[in-house]
Amino acid sequence: MVDKNGDKMDWGMKNRMSQLIQKDGRCLFLPIDHGYFQGPTTKLEKPGKTVEPLMEYADALFVTRGALRNCIPADNTKPIILRVSGGPSVIGENLANEELTTSIEEILRLNATAVGISIFVGSEYETQTVTNLAYLVDECENFGIPVMAVTAVGKELEKRDARYLGLASRIAAEIGARVVKTYWCDNFDKVVEGCPVPVVMAGGPRVDSDKEVFDFVYDGISKGAAGVNLGRNVWKNKYPVPMIRALRSIIHEGYTADEANNLFEELKSE
Ligand code: 5RP
Repeated sequence: MVDKNGDKMDWGMKNRMSQLIQKDGRCLFLPIDHGYFQGPTTKLEKPGKTVEPLMEYADALFVTRGALRNCIPADNTKPIILRVSGGPSVIGENLANEELTTSIEEILRLNATAVGISIFVGSEYETQTVTNLAYLVDECENFGIPVMAVTAVGKELEKRDARYLGLASRIAAEIGARVVKTYWCDNFDKVVEGCPVPVVMAGGPRVDSDKEVFDFVYDGISKGAAGVNLGRNVWKNKYPVPMIRALRSIIHEGYTADEANNLFEELKSE
């Protein structure tokens, strides 16, 4: 098992991990992969346009190969985390029934820094998706490419408590994920403590107030999260650039939730 210090890693793996997790041990990933099961998600109809003003504030972009090829300029220098699982859609039968969608050759061809895959622990497709993760880890470790596991819950959002997320995150790390993306929850320290690799918080659906986003991100960071992978609460916000800059202030500059909120208000009025 790789520990959080990055020991026992080959140079290539270390180099890619250092592109994801910055020198301060933190990260801000910007996901725009939602179209792989939601189609043209509101505000992501033109993903390239949506992310263009946000890219300079993100540490990495989480994206499918189709959106990358068609919407992101090839002179991009931000690390790319390629979404490589999928299958079911939001109008299909079961969101958990995912398979691998991208080969290792394609991952290398696209010069991905890392890959991301969902697992659905506790679902009907638990074994299938955890085995997908194991296979992907085997393929990617051969080339020093880190795998980020996403502990997905499909439409069962109520599953998001520390007991479940701690279990799913630990399983992801045990199977070989180098980074785990999970939801923030109360008692988030329990999730982080049980997971030997960096834990990144997903956002979930848009929350009611901007301050709530700063509150949960600050809480998670204080409890040991490495950072965020936050999409809708950034690019669906009326002020996406102030939002991502305020989030960055919590993740990389030690701001509290109140300080980040003040910065957000200031930037909004510029
Ligand atoms: C969707 C994902 C997203 O990357 C993840 O959910 C983060 O986005 P958001 O903050 O909008 O939830 O994995 O499959």
